Amino acid sequence: MTHPVGETPNKLDRGARVYVAGHRGLVGSAIMRRLVADGFVNVVGKTSTELDLRNRDAVFGYFEQVRPRYVVLAAAKVGGILANSTYPVDFLSENVRIQVNVLDAALQFGVERLLFLGSSCIYPKFAEQPIKEEALLTGHLEPTNDAYAIAKIAGILHVQAVRRQYGLPWISAMPTNLYGPNDNFSPTGSHVLPAMIRRYDDAVASNATSVTNWGTGTPRREFLHADDMADACLHLLENYDSPQHVNIGSGTDVTIREIAEIIASVTGYQGETLWDSDKPDGTPQKLLDVSKLSDTGWRSKIDLRDGLERTVAWYRASADILRR
Ligand SMILES: NC(=O)c1ccc[n+]([C@@H]2O[C@H](COP(=O)([O-])OP(=O)(O)OC[C@H]3O[C@@H](n4cnc5c(N)ncnc54)[C@H](OP(=O)(O)O)[C@@H]3O)[C@@H](O)[C@H]2O)c1
Repeated sequence: MTHPVGETPNKLDRGARVYVAGHRGLVGSAIMRRLVADGFVNVVGKTSTELDLRNRDAVFGYFEQVRPRYVVLAAAKVGGILANSTYPVDFLSENVRIQVNVLDAALQFGVERLLFLGSSCIYPKFAEQPIKEEALLTGHLEPTNDAYAIAKIAGILHVQAVRRQYGLPWISAMPTNLYGPNDNFSPTGSHVLPAMIRRYDDAVASNATSVTNWGTGTPRREFLHADDMADACLHLLENYDSPQHVNIGSGTDVTIREIAEIIASVTGYQGETLWDSDKPDGTPQKLLDVSKLSDTGWRSKIDLRDGLERTVAWYRASADILRR
């Protein structure tokens, strides 16, 4: 049985069926690995080809057949600045449909515990750093990904509304920039870190003498390995119950230049790194305040260099399944 809203959640039943929506992606695959490693024996997922979550009837049919007791919603249309600013309708419409379908079906079929995943782009462009959860809806969004952000904000409110109207202990978490296995390394769809891994690895392969990155390299960003994020998600499912979404991050940031230096070193790149300062830098700093998560007793464990070594090794060993 589930616990009433407001009480400390009990440990999840390792035998219960858990549906991880988006189980092939960066986030979903890490969560699936974490659950299986922790003894969950009935973790299920479907690819977007097998089950298109934009299709409401198909989603309800799947829930009726599978009847998961717990759900992690890590399926979304995700992309970098270029994709987000070029296709805002797709990012808004597809993500709203995915969320509404999965959350409505989860409600109809009595899912006891659900974790909805959003991202740090939900916060106002000029939010005070480090960004606290309370900054949500206190200012204007970054225009390049506002459509995506609005979809994610709708998801947070949907989860809160289910708690209020139906008393179910569902929760939401907002991870910082993530990296790790199964990331998207394609030049048009990827985030800064996988794009850089690809750029430096390509430079090594082609014996290039210089690599050029966008901007000045001075903006500060926070990065978390997906396995750390997955560990935090399981921790929250078992230790957190509140309408307030929770930030997930390492609590520290680095400059883009520092990241480039580590990736250059990890990939074995010996050439020069140039910075194209005619290209935009974006916001000077983006760091989440993770005190709420820390208060629940969770800390990040994977050091950035170690995480990048693992990710580059995975990237090089996974040519056949890479999104690039
Ligand atoms: N990457 C980050 O740095 C980051 C940071 C913070 C938060 N997040 C959040 O985490 C969530 C997942 O992101 P991610 O980085 O893991 O993205 P991802 O690697 O692109 O994975 C997204 C997953 O969603 C699935 N999906 C997309 N459209 C679908 C559809 N119509 N029907 C069924 N499945 C669909 C894809 O399934 P298939 O593979 O089967 O096509 C894919 O496995 C998002 O909500 C994102 O905001 C990500």
